[in-house]
Amino acid sequence: MKIFERDRHKVIWGDAIKVLSSEIEDESIDLVFADPPYNIGKDFNGRRDKWESKESYLNWCYKWLALCISKLKPGGSLYVMTATQNMPYFDIYLRKRMTILSRIVWFYDSSGVQARKYYGSLYEPILFCVKDKNNYTFNADDIMVEARTGAVRKLIDYRKPVPKVYNSKKVPGNVWNIPRVRYRMEEYEEHPTQKPVALLNRIVTASSHPGDMVLDPFSGTFTTSDVAKKLDRMSIGIEIEEEYVKIGLRRLEICSEYEGQPLEKKGRTFESARDEQQAMLNFSEV
Ligand SMILES: C[S@@+](CC[C@H](N)C(=O)[O-])C[C@H]1O[C@@H](n2cnc3c(N)ncnc32)[C@H](O)[C@@H]1O
Repeated sequence: MKIFERDRHKVIWGDAIKVLSSEIEDESIDLVFADPPYNIGKDFNGRRDKWESKESYLNWCYKWLALCISKLKPGGSLYVMTATQNMPYFDIYLRKRMTILSRIVWFYDSSGVQARKYYGSLYEPILFCVKDKNNYTFNADDIMVEARTGAVRKLIDYRKPVPKVYNSKKVPGNVWNIPRVRYRMEEYEEHPTQKPVALLNRIVTASSHPGDMVLDPFSGTFTTSDVAKKLDRMSIGIEIEEEYVKIGLRRLEICSEYEGQPLEKKGRTFESARDEQQAMLNFSEV
């Protein structure tokens, strides 16, 4: 295990269960966002996301879920993701220990290979749970979205003593249409299941205050910590794969070098083509 820290942001290279057990104080965290391996066979830099059985995967998940709950402050919140087929088990486990306030569907369109013999998967579920349903953070005013009525003109509410335009802002519903991170997007990092900044922006903004402590036990590309930093929260990110820890160190500007090598974002193919084009232009201008 190795801990890197700068300006109230910690990147911890290690196993989530070990780190949660030994490094994180009980009742010290305001918000946990947990996006674990889904047991669907992804390749996390050589570490295969596949357990020998569904039961062994779930038993592993129940261990870190219990730890996350004990690390949350009494007014804390947990957002957790997993594959659609595992989520019912998470739901049953969590509803006995916390209050599940929202069952969110993160919906996206996909241009990838489409299913032909069943309905293609276009969403991932997220549970939003709180320890105490009478005492938790929810900054509704900071996450308002446009209320779409389908009407071209603004609708007037004639039931009011003085007719007035319907409120055009609302708290988002539980279906979130946010594009996945694509290769050409600025935020793209080399990781198979990077979550979008927009998704974490909504979660961190709604469920924490500036100065609060945000924890992500499966940080991947450290999207959660990156968003927490931009929103002036504190963060702890745990990740087991060294290559991804390096992304976190760079993204959070904790250091600029790692073992004597500069921490730089790898150029994408279209960027090198663009650089070449620019070099040619510069050359022809000389
Ligand atoms: C679904 S990804 C998280 C992606 C992340 N939310 C992001 O935005 O990039 C799960 C991550 O958990 C890491 N991981 C797998 N087993 C772990 C463990 N036992 N402890 C800590 N991290 C682990 C994987 O390397 C992978 O990066």
